[in-house]
Amino acid sequence: MIDVAARMHRLGTEGAFEVLAKAQALAATGKSIVNLCIGQPDFPPPSHVIEAAEKAWRDGHHGYTPAPGILPLREAVAGDLHRRFNVQVDPGDITVTPGSKVALFFALQILGEPGTEIIHPNPAYPGYESLISYSGATPIPIPLIEERGFSFEADDILTRIGPRTRAIILNSPANPTGGVIDRGELDKLVAGLADFPHVVVISDEIYGRIIYDGKAHHTLLSYESIRDRLILLDGWSKGFAMTGWRLGYAVWPKVLVEHANRLAINCHSCVANAVQYGGIAALEGPMDEVNAMNAAFEQRRHVIVDRLNSLPGISCVNPAGAFYAFPNIKHTGFNAAVLQRQLLEQEGVAGLAGTSFGVWGEGYLRFSYAASIEQIEEAMARVGRFLDRNAVRRPAALRS
Ligand SMILES: Cc1ncc(COP(=O)(O)O)c(C=O)c1O
Repeated sequence: MIDVAARMHRLGTEGAFEVLAKAQALAATGKSIVNLCIGQPDFPPPSHVIEAAEKAWRDGHHGYTPAPGILPLREAVAGDLHRRFNVQVDPGDITVTPGSKVALFFALQILGEPGTEIIHPNPAYPGYESLISYSGATPIPIPLIEERGFSFEADDILTRIGPRTRAIILNSPANPTGGVIDRGELDKLVAGLADFPHVVVISDEIYGRIIYDGKAHHTLLSYESIRDRLILLDGWSKGFAMTGWRLGYAVWPKVLVEHANRLAINCHSCVANAVQYGGIAALEGPMDEVNAMNAAFEQRRHVIVDRLNSLPGISCVNPAGAFYAFPNIKHTGFNAAVLQRQLLEQEGVAGLAGTSFGVWGEGYLRFSYAASIEQIEEAMARVGRFLDRNAVRRPAALRS
């Protein structure tokens, strides 16, 4: 009998990858599937990005690079942050990683250990709770509730901070809710953090380019008072439709960057060489393809929210960013896991139970609208058919 380390039992998984595998298995049997479960744009990356990476392969960029990434890429990241937010970032404080989730993993390995606590939103990207637990720290959830636009009040966090708190994780725009943290609450939170100088802020801004209604993303980098304890996570996956390239980064406080780079050396050595050249082209090249993609997401958002609100038992607030709708299903009489399963098995609609993102996701489903309008319309028609068949009109006790 082989023993594995006890920490392996504390590591969770991602519902999206599990449902995707099930949906693909059903599709292989000939069932028609509409996939709204996976969080990735259905667009190709901008064409000049692909050309830059192709050229880099052909030009012979096949070897290892410095572990934190090639300097021109880290300079391009600093330049992009300066152009977008008017902030100064030292390229020496940046580590480029194979996806931002690796930077998240590093941050939590650096900070978390038994006897410490890390505060995180719930429902949220499943990696937060899973990787906090894996580090040995105790996850302390902040419930994100619909009535507050799936955000929180500064005091919800400040009152949970104690001597054992190592870090808080923030994510705006958010997965799975599409919520954006209110700027006033961020100001209050940062002001309140002055009383807790031992607490690191991990700000996951991977959806920062996907924000609607003409609003601008507000980065935590702009708060000078916490720059010496802020870890910013971002990457190319969502904003440039480059999920499979595996390219992300973190900006670290000076005292942490060395730890992150040592983890990179021990873990993956470096991100694929030519991929890094694609990353430079994405940040420095024309943005018209990115803007067109975002305009398409905004249009799809209207369609999916409109259709969801016309369905019996379902209501959906307008997401302010990212590409997820997070409809309230409490009046359907189904709990989230049952509705997820039955929609997939009976109607071939792949969505995700809100509970895949934490206990506070009960009563919700997540649909990714990074899919064509035709797919969205088809999925919503099928959900409607399912609800009619199950006579959903009346409030009912939760079925299981
Ligand atoms: C909130 C959030 N953070 C991080 C990630 C990881 O992204 P990547 O590792 O592709 O950069 C995701 C992916 O779904 C996400 O939704």
